[in-house]
Order: sequence, then C-alpha cells, then structure tokens
Amino acid sequence: MKITSKQLRQKWLSFYESKGHVNVGAVSLIGDGTTGVMFNVAGMQPLMPYLLGKPHPLGRRLCNVQGCVRTVDIDSVGDASHFTFFEMMGNWSLGDYFKKEKTAWTFELLTKEFGLDKDKLCSTVFEGNDAAPRDEETASLLRSLGILPEHIFYLPKSDNWWELEGTVGTPCGPDNEWFYPIDPKKKDPVFPDDYVEIGNDVYMQYRKTETGYVPLENKNVDTGFGLDRMLLFLNGLHDGYKTDLFAGVIAALEQLTGRRYDEDGEARKAMRIVADHTRTTVMLIGDVNGILPSNTGAGYILRRLMRRAIRYCRKLGVEPASTMCAVAAAFIDEVYGEAYPLLVGKKDYILDEIKKEAERFETMLEKGMAEFEKCIAGIERKNAFMAGKDPAYVPENTIGGKQAFRLYDTYGFPLELTEEMAAERGYGVDKEGFDAAFREHQEKSRGDLHAGEAKGGLESHSVQAVRYHTATHLLNAALKAVLSPDVNQKGSNITDERMRFDFNFSRAMTPEEVKAVEDLVNQKIAEDIPVVYKEMSLEEARAEHFVGVFDSKYGDVVKTYSIGDFSKEMCGGPHASRTGELGHFRIVKEQSSSAGVRRIKAVLE
Ligand code: SER
Repeated sequence: MKITSKQLRQKWLSFYESKGHVNVGAVSLIGDGTTGVMFNVAGMQPLMPYLLGKPHPLGRRLCNVQGCVRTVDIDSVGDASHFTFFEMMGNWSLGDYFKKEKTAWTFELLTKEFGLDKDKLCSTVFEGNDAAPRDEETASLLRSLGILPEHIFYLPKSDNWWELEGTVGTPCGPDNEWFYPIDPKKKDPVFPDDYVEIGNDVYMQYRKTETGYVPLENKNVDTGFGLDRMLLFLNGLHDGYKTDLFAGVIAALEQLTGRRYDEDGEARKAMRIVADHTRTTVMLIGDVNGILPSNTGAGYILRRLMRRAIRYCRKLGVEPASTMCAVAAAFIDEVYGEAYPLLVGKKDYILDEIKKEAERFETMLEKGMAEFEKCIAGIERKNAFMAGKDPAYVPENTIGGKQAFRLYDTYGFPLELTEEMAAERGYGVDKEGFDAAFREHQEKSRGDLHAGEAKGGLESHSVQAVRYHTATHLLNAALKAVLSPDVNQKGSNITDERMRFDFNFSRAMTPEEVKAVEDLVNQKIAEDIPVVYKEMSLEEARAEHFVGVFDSKYGDVVKTYSIGDFSKEMCGGPHASRTGELGHFRIVKEQSSSAGVRRIKAVLE
C-alpha cells in the first residue's frame, strides 16, 4: 500500500493547516433538519449557515474529514466503486481567498504531495448560462499553473455546478473538477472515458432560491475530495474494496464463507454488499446522534440497508447476525476506531442492535420461505395430477408472476431472491407475469386514488408510502382547520422519502400558520387514531361530509377513509391502520406552485 487511509486523512489536514486552515472536525451523519436532507451528504452541509454569511467561530479558513451517507445509488453497491458511506476530505474559504489561491493549492497538493503528473491532469470548468458566467478566470489560472490547454474542458450546469438537489435557500455555485487517467500508463487516454474524477473545488457564490440564483455577499470556496475514491486511485487500485479500509473485512468474510473474493464473482458482489452496508450500519448506529432501524425516516433507510446485507449473508451461506457482527467488529477494531473513538465506546451496543435486527428479519424471511414452499408444492401437486390423466403432459416448472409478486409485496422478497430460490429447485419465475402484476398493482393504486390526486401521486405501496398517503389526509384536514374550510387538495406526490401536497390558497402561509398546521398533524398522530375504511353510497358520503371530488354517478358505491372526526375523505387507499404509525411530521417547505396554488413538502421522521 503506497498510502493508507490514516496517512491520507493526515496528509489532507496537515496540508491545509499549513495554509492557515483550522480543522473543525466531523459532525453527526444524521441530517440536522435544516435542509430536509436525511443524512449528511457532503462536507459542506453542516457549514451551510457560514457559507451563507454567518461568521464561523474558528475563522474563515476551515478544513476537515467528514463522513457522508448517500443512498441514492444503493442498487449499484456491489460493483467496484459505489459506497453508501464515504469520507469527504474538505476545505473551505468563507469569503476569504478565492480562485487564485484555490487552484494553486489543489494543483500543489495533487502534483507535489500526491505526486501526480501535471501533464496527465484534466480539469473541467463551468461553461456559463443565464445564471452565472463562463468560468474563464479558473480556466486561465489552470493554464498558468501548467495544466495543458487541451486538458481544460468547459461543461454545462449538469456537470460543473454543485448544489444540494431539492433544497432552497442553500449555497451553491460553479465548480472546477479534477480528473486523472484511470490507468496512468495508458497511451493517449481519451477524456472523459479514460479518466476518473478525483475531487472538486466549488466556487460557492450564489444562493439557490425558488426561482433561480442570487449572488451571495461572500465568495466562498467549498472543496471536496472523496477519501475512499482517492485512496484507491493513489494506490493504483481499480477496486474500492481493496484499500486498507476493506482489506481486513474482506479477509474475514473469505474466512467465514470459505469463498474467494478474487476468484468467485458471485461471492465478490455479495461480500461487497455485506461490507458496505454493514459499514454504513456501524456508522449510523454508532453516530453521536445514532439511529436504529425502524419503519420511518432515516431509520427506515437503515433497515433497508441492514436487510439487504442480511439477505446477502444468506446468499454467501453464512449466518447473518454473527457475520455482520464480525464485519462490524473488524471495522471498529481495525479501521475506524482511531478516527472515530465513539464507535469503540458504542461497540457492544452496535453489535447488539445488529443482532436484534438480523433476528427480527429472520422470522419474516421464514414466513416468506414457507409461502414459497407452498407455491412449489402447489405446482408439484398439479403436475402429479395432470401426469396421471395425460401421459403426454409437460410438467410446469415456473413460479407464476402473481405468486412472485405476492412474495415481493407481502414478505418483502425481492424478485431476484425468489428467482434464486426457485433456480435451486429447478424452477424458473415468470418475470413478465411479475412485471404485469406489479404494473396492475400500481395502476390499481393510482386508479383508486381520489380524483383530486395528481397522476402518479402514489407510486408504490411500500409501507412508508402508505404512511405518507395517510399523512396527506391529516395535512388536508389540518390546512382546512388552520387556513380556511375552502382549502382543497389540488394534487400530491409521494415517494418513500417525502410527500408533496398542492392546495388552493392565494398567499404564502405565515411561519405561525405552518407551525400550527404541523402541530395539529402531530397532535393527531400522537392521539393514535384508527384509520377507518368504509364503503358507502355516494349519497351517504355526501351527507356525512366526506371530501373528495364527487365525479361518481348517482348510486355508485364509494370508498371512504375517516380519521376520527378530524378527516373524512373519499379515497381508494391504502392507508396506515392508525395515525400513531406515522412518526413525526415536519413541513420542510411551503412555496408557490402556480397561480393560486401553494405546495407543501413534508417528511415523516
Ligand atoms: N460540495 C462538494 C461536494 O460534495 C464539494 O465539497 O462534492
């Protein structure tokens, strides 16, 4: 190993300390709620108020190494370069130095400290648009430092602009990204295919508003280089699981499973998933604001990670609880204990919680397996019966799409798990049938929604989406109570992470009104009111003041949901069975959607 993770962290910090920066240390991985982002996804996130202008007690030049959790690419984990947890090496100028110093220091660090060849470095800058000019200044500084002019590229906003997606009021700006050949020995590498991004300097000089970007008083710099990625690259490796961060863990998994990481592609993918997801689990449970797996908010994401790891332990043929505990212990003892001493203190607690979750999921897995056995037995019975009647009968060997969908929907079995289990018994799975059942289910849930619901409002029936759906009913009723009985839902959109709700109202809500609505919804959640489903005639629904769009015909039967006397809506469901299941409701944003229509974004935590 040319450079270890510990040396790299140290090198980064001492380099920027030598340039007058103060190490501000790392903060919690759990989002502080200011942006509505669930986890800390970038080193700049905790520094947002300072980037927006608040004086920082430690000065205007800061640096640190900050853990980040990003779960958007969870399905890609298993390849050589995706992680759900990583460390970002950062440094900042809060309205102090700007492009001249920053380009020079990044160049110095990369070429002198890390020994990269300046003639191989490539750099991209912002090409400009209506909001911000073309970054000729950075390009010219790069040229004067010695970056070859043909290695400087101007790219559009989709490449060279950094902002926290889905937020408003946050700092952002054009960035300068640094690239190096994946294989430095390759002759005439072609940009970008043969290159890897190693980090970026963001010139944060704008604030994102609802409609565009306004200049900030301070011209800031926000630099971020991924430690995990850099480590791999500086050591001339091509597999992110070969660095010292993972070497011990992979060796432990090889020993436990008796399978070889290098030689067995299937085991390799599973080992990477178990290692990555367990590392993130350790970091989230062991965090200073540690969380536990649950059915809402950040806890739900943690649960998804843990259950995916559990499933892959099974694929590796090892017992999930003990394997994940061994992996977690290796991370704490051998890799992260020194940089994150809190993990050492919380080690027993972390292992205990991993064990509990693995045991909990085991029961669900078992029920799903029993269901799976029933499917197989059913097909075998039919085959035996038919063979008795007709000697030419060709036996069935496919699990039906509807059955596979039931395993998916009720027992949380991903299709691949069903397929794998089926293959072991010599069966296939009707994938097309599965897709059809999936679509039918989705269409049904869309069709069932009350007519006021925007198309695509409820994309899936995940437990979390169902909770959000119930939250829209509470929100609808709370808005009527706080603002006016004339407020009506104009549309909604739900994902597993958040809800959006549009309603007619002619002005912005005051902060007091937002708070009152939030409090009222939370009060109804705290009351743990049952959500009651009833079919009735349209006339009855009208008489009982159910809300919804009355577009049905006379005599029709309608589906209704009521939450005590507080909310009564005509709606196809599905819904949570009690409001207490929803967790804490928080309005992240209230903004204009179109003329006379406001939009609320809210989360359940
Ligand atoms: N905010 C930028 C990033 O996350 C630079 O720190 O990459």
